[in-house]
Amino acid sequence: MKIFITRKIPKQGLDLLLKQGYKIEINKYNRALTKNEIINGLKNKDGLLCLLTDNIDKDIIESESKLKMIANYAVGYDNIDIEAATEKRIPVSNTPDVLTDTTAEMAWALLLSVSRRIVEGDQYTRSGKFGGWDPMLMLGQDISNKTLGILGTGRIGASFALKSKGFKMNILYFDEKINGKLEKELNAKKVGKSELIKKSDFISIHLPLNKSTFHFIGLKELKNMKNNAILINTSRGAIINEEALAKALKENWIFGAGLDVYENEPVLNSKLLVLNNIIIQPHSASATFKTRSNMAIIAAKNMIEGLNGKIPTNCVNKQIFK
Ligand code: GLV
Ligand code: GLV
Repeated sequence: MKIFITRKIPKQGLDLLLKQGYKIEINKYNRALTKNEIINGLKNKDGLLCLLTDNIDKDIIESESKLKMIANYAVGYDNIDIEAATEKRIPVSNTPDVLTDTTAEMAWALLLSVSRRIVEGDQYTRSGKFGGWDPMLMLGQDISNKTLGILGTGRIGASFALKSKGFKMNILYFDEKINGKLEKELNAKKVGKSELIKKSDFISIHLPLNKSTFHFIGLKELKNMKNNAILINTSRGAIINEEALAKALKENWIFGAGLDVYENEPVLNSKLLVLNNIIIQPHSASATFKTRSNMAIIAAKNMIEGLNGKIPTNCVNKQIFK
């Protein structure tokens, strides 16, 4: 079996594939590939191991008739045309669970950093402006006993919620499903979107990107947030309308925002970049040594299962096996 890998991933995953006797071809550049480069790389390959930065569309999926398995090195799979893969009965897998706590921890890192203006404070101090303790210097927001609103309480959203325990927060959540664990352990309350937006001091987004969540947060939602509200996004950039967010932050409708993901990655909105009340990260919420290795192992295991005709453990289009 031959596998095309669109970017170098940690060795632990590559070793598993090599141990199977598979031939692997890896993108030799240190950058994302273009559509044509992916199509060329995929020639004569049985498996495709790809990243969230690859737009795996219908043309790519249909370009190689031998293709039998697509393993995405990410939990989100909005980068893959699942319908086109399903039509060709090609299983697609993702890498859930191993990055749940790691991603939730980044959401907390952003929440704490925006609340207490950590990046701004570091730059201020480093630049020599610190002239001694000052009653009015770098005032931020308290976290304990405040209201935390969570949009999406799947694995990552729930892990994020549970990590609030030490801060004794009032938890509101928006999701299709009732989360019994959060209700029992945190006394969390399931509410509608507009109630969550109006009442929360912190709003953290943990939704998948799809047609119903595109621009889920726009001008109207930002207008309805509290003046001291802090918005955190570690899911997918296009869930927030960035133009609207830039306006809201510039005009201080809310206190601040922490983003790990962007609407047009890797292109950044220049209106956001000039603001002080936002902290931005380079889509690195799952970026720990351990988690990135585990993601490579999971992607490789799914690839092996799929190429052996088994249902991959983390298959996202299981309907093809029915
Ligand atoms: C990262 O954004 C992922 O989906 O794994
Ligand atoms: C999303 O995929 C999650 O794990 O919450």
